[in-house]
Amino acid sequence: MAKTNVLFVCLGNICRSPMAEAMFKKMTTEQGISNHYQINSVATSSEEAGNPPHPGAQAEMDKHNLNYAGHHSRPITSADIKNADYIITMDESNIYDLQHMIPTDEQHKLHLCMDIVPGQHGVSIVDPWYTHRFDQTYTMLKESLPLWLDQMENKRKELQN
Ligand code: 4NP
Repeated sequence: MAKTNVLFVCLGNICRSPMAEAMFKKMTTEQGISNHYQINSVATSSEEAGNPPHPGAQAEMDKHNLNYAGHHSRPITSADIKNADYIITMDESNIYDLQHMIPTDEQHKLHLCMDIVPGQHGVSIVDPWYTHRFDQTYTMLKESLPLWLDQMENKRKELQN
């Protein structure tokens, strides 16, 4: 069966989306289901292209034993969009930018990360590039990502039967 392709997106791909990618990879590894997932992260801009995660993001990821080795920022491509099953974004401006990049028939792939958390619909994960609250990014991702994985696993199991 084809792998579930999950693409995390933020503005620079050096703070929030690389943290989401590393956390999601860790969850699938810990649950023994990493072979069912293709997980990546990209930027809506090319501002930080080629750069590693922000030092603040690195420190937060180190704190939680997250592996971001080899990660470098890169802008989203049309192949990323085509291959993705889920495009999970961090804030409303990511959604706005991507709505202009994603063909209409693929817009259903587009999600706001916190939308899956009850009572958090429409909530943005504020950019730590400005706030330096990398701990807050981690806390919000920790709340939302397990719910995304549960939803994906339910769907995957449904398709298997
Ligand atoms: P991120 O944070 O979108 O969470 O990776 C940012 C990183 C870089 C910039 C903006 C946000 N920038 O403007 O270069």
